[in-house]
Amino acid sequence: MQQSQVVLVTGGGAGIGKATAFAYAEAGCDVVVADLHADQAEAVATGIRNLGRRSLPVQADMGDADAIALMHQAVIAEFDRLDYACNNAGIEGQQAPTAETTLANFDQVININLRGVFLCMQEQLRIMLKQQSGGSIVNIASVAGLIGFPGLPAYCASKGGVVQLTKTAALEYAEQNIRVNAICPGAIKTDMIDRITHQDPEIEKQFAALHAMNRMGTAQEVADAIVFLSMPSASFITGLAIAIDGGFTSR
Ligand SMILES: NC(=O)c1ccc[n+]([C@@H]2O[C@H](COP(=O)([O-])OP(=O)(O)OC[C@H]3O[C@@H](n4cnc5c(N)ncnc54)[C@H](O)[C@@H]3O)[C@@H](O)[C@H]2O)c1
Repeated sequence: MQQSQVVLVTGGGAGIGKATAFAYAEAGCDVVVADLHADQAEAVATGIRNLGRRSLPVQADMGDADAIALMHQAVIAEFDRLDYACNNAGIEGQQAPTAETTLANFDQVININLRGVFLCMQEQLRIMLKQQSGGSIVNIASVAGLIGFPGLPAYCASKGGVVQLTKTAALEYAEQNIRVNAICPGAIKTDMIDRITHQDPEIEKQFAALHAMNRMGTAQEVADAIVFLSMPSASFITGLAIAIDGGFTSR
């Protein structure tokens, strides 16, 4: 019997990460679901097991280097390999223009969104290099990593950084067949966007209108693109930052 592919999804307890964890399972993968919130990771892992796949929930904070190392140790202890990773966990931080952004907010957003992705990539690349069977890493950036957003300086800086980490590692490990890509979602209807819009219908309408399709995206639409990028169907795609944004950045 052919061995299942093993994938790690960070921030897999809700939103885009949760949809992605299930999409990988539907595609036949065994899934490690990592999240800051143990109960959410556990609930998603249980759902995946009900689909007939193996799943390991891991409680881990992507702002904590030791926790990131332990999380990868847990992956190897359980599955003895890692084929794909989706570095999705992220926070929006507080909204304030640059001059009013606090250093604490800037540091927290950069620590989780950028340093966390860097540390995860290091661990994942080391595992994949050792395995010598290639691999695929998909980092979740944002359209805010491609264009500016007033009021979100740290978030934009962190996501722009994720795009550049992605391109750099893609070049470094292309010959080892480790593909590294980024997804840059537009506004996707999740808890994060609800926190930003406060679910105010007027603000939601304004967010929808940013996209040529005049609507927000769904977590499933992002998850489908992530899984596509991981699979052999995308075997010649590396170093891309792909906007899944209903035409937002095409304007
Ligand atoms: N929703 C959007 O419109 C949108 C747009 C562009 C990019 N993104 C990015 O997509 C990713 C997922 O966003 P979402 O909308 O699903 O968010 P969400 O807030 O709905 O879910 C995020 C998940 O990550 C977990 N998480 C948060 N901080 C963590 C940490 N320090 N360590 C581990 N897990 C942590 C949360 O517990 C939650 O389960 C983020 O990186 C976000 O920046 C989202």
